[in-house]
Amino acid sequence: MTHHGQTFDSNCMTLTRFVLQEQRKVPQATGDLTQLLNSIQTAVKAVSSAVRKAGIANMYGIAGNVNVQGEEVKKLDVLSNELFINMLTSSYTTCLLVSEENETVIEVETERQGKYIVTFDPLDGSSNIDCLVSVGSIFGIYKKPENSSTPELSDALQQGRKMVAAGYALYGSATMIVLSIGHGVNGFTYDPALGEFILTEKNMRIPSRGKIYSINEGYEAVWDPAIKEYVQSKKYPATGKPYGARYVGSMVADVHRTIKYGGIFLYPATKENVNGKLRLLYECIPMAYIVNEAGGKASNGEIDILDVVPEKLHQRCPIFLGSSEDVDDVLEVIRKHK
Ligand code: AHM
Ligand code: MG
Repeated sequence: MTHHGQTFDSNCMTLTRFVLQEQRKVPQATGDLTQLLNSIQTAVKAVSSAVRKAGIANMYGIAGNVNVQGEEVKKLDVLSNELFINMLTSSYTTCLLVSEENETVIEVETERQGKYIVTFDPLDGSSNIDCLVSVGSIFGIYKKPENSSTPELSDALQQGRKMVAAGYALYGSATMIVLSIGHGVNGFTYDPALGEFILTEKNMRIPSRGKIYSINEGYEAVWDPAIKEYVQSKKYPATGKPYGARYVGSMVADVHRTIKYGGIFLYPATKENVNGKLRLLYECIPMAYIVNEAGGKASNGEIDILDVVPEKLHQRCPIFLGSSEDVDDVLEVIRKHK
């Protein structure tokens, strides 16, 4: 029974408790996914603390980028990557890791291997770090294919449809983990007083249509005519009000807003970057999985992102993601221009 005291919920749903409860519904579950998600939680807590510059006095002393020992302070993206790798490898549940920060796939040492493969971007939106704008972490979890004995690169190149779970952490005005283990999407806000993530957004659903478009409009000169036409139609609609424009430039923040308020996030191909900028394995697929689970859509302009078969570790992919009606609209314009 929940005790609704004025100031304290003595029965709150923490992220760990939520995952344990969900895993109890799966008769063959071993507890490994729970353990894996716990290790990600720890990494996220540490990244959050670093991003918020907690302990800054210890890190910096009084001088710029060099600490009191005269050592260069570790850059946040490097630190975040080390945290993710260390927590994941020591969870005894993973065998292969794919990180945005590592050129090649990371094979976990044999004694520590488990059955999961994790792709992640430990700190996305790095251009926003120095000016204190929101950044995030993104992760996707797969199972090692049954027929594979020693894990290898090809095991990490799985379609999004095969994903077991995906999530992101947003280091915004609060820290939040948004997670899907395949039955909808739930959001957990970090409570620094408890040191726990608490379920605050149950069964998140993206509106079927929104009023916001989100794209880096500075690149209009190098967009395809279809993208120009679509964005123009949002600014000068034949009927109704124009859409609002929002673009943080941190994928996690832009996608989180899109899930909450509806609308569309676009990172299309440009003349120079024919596959756009965002990476398939640890940016596009996990976000597509979450948006899909929240009732939205994500496409590369031709097919669903979850149907794309990855060929390379750091492959890029154009992305159109958000409210299903908004994504359908842009796809229609793209088809018309083909
Ligand atoms: P990063 O992985 O180097 O941080 O870049 C990814 C980020 C995304 O978070 C964001 O959606 C995009 O780059 C913004 O790119 P642009 O500055 O070209 O609009
Ligand atoms: Mg990134």
